[in-house]
Amino acid sequence: MSAKVIDGTAFAAQVREKVATHVAGLKEVHGITPGLAVVLVGEDPASQVYVRAKGKQTVEVGMASFEHRLDAATSEAVLLDLIARLNADPAVHGILVQLPLPAHLDEDLVINAIDPAKDVDGFHISNVGLLATGQKAMVPCTPLGCLMMLRAHHGSLSGLEAVVIGRSNIVGKPMAQLLLGDSCTVTIAHSRTRDLPEVVRRADIVVAAVGRPQMVPGDWIKPGATVIDVGINRLPPAEEGAKGRLVGDCDYDSCAAVAGAITPVPGGVGPMTIACLLANTVTACCRAHGVPEPEGLTA
Ligand code: GUN
Repeated sequence: MSAKVIDGTAFAAQVREKVATHVAGLKEVHGITPGLAVVLVGEDPASQVYVRAKGKQTVEVGMASFEHRLDAATSEAVLLDLIARLNADPAVHGILVQLPLPAHLDEDLVINAIDPAKDVDGFHISNVGLLATGQKAMVPCTPLGCLMMLRAHHGSLSGLEAVVIGRSNIVGKPMAQLLLGDSCTVTIAHSRTRDLPEVVRRADIVVAAVGRPQMVPGDWIKPGATVIDVGINRLPPAEEGAKGRLVGDCDYDSCAAVAGAITPVPGGVGPMTIACLLANTVTACCRAHGVPEPEGLTA
């Protein structure tokens, strides 16, 4: 079997299109412009790339983008004061503090200072609890993107066996909650899981989110299963001075030979993350103003 390739780039473009249409409606009918504030502390190069991409795409869908770049030595008090001002600012509907933060800042404290209604990352403890109890929450962007692609491919996920490899707060745990919410039978596997290949072979849906390049080989995959590869890893360069190739947590060629469907790296889950951030921002804006939310953009 040769797997259907799930095109995350095309899917993300559709999500952005839906967001842009809803944003245009919010402006025209209600005179509201959704706004997203992104806070970057320090100069981490990867974070700078992400933040720039977020700002650009926010503007492209017609929303207001507010960027706050703070020095790496910024104190917790100064950062918390900025968050308090963004919480109180009616033009800001979504707040994202780019992670990781410099080591002297307490990430949990900072994230939990964000108004949960503006927590478009879905990392605030209130949103984590709401998701875990099946209530309306802001849902973390990467797992939300994976869920959208799975729903589009399968229709109903009810009764399917899902194995999530990785137990991070950002992807693994919320992904498992979302799959459970769609009535999958869910296993969360991790570095201490015994006989991981056998566990993965049970799965109709495999979500790999461990950050280890090409860790999952094709002979772990049940024929016809759907493979969602969240990993973005750079291999060592073939020659000095060159850039290494980007690969996922799954060995693409061997998995694609067995799977029914698979997300490539790059061009799979990656583009969906920012698209879902935009979706969460428009959702947060609609909830704040008590107007109808766009359909199909939330869990
Ligand atoms: N750093 C890497 N991924 C993310 C994300 O999804 N949200 C935030 N805030 N920081 C990140």
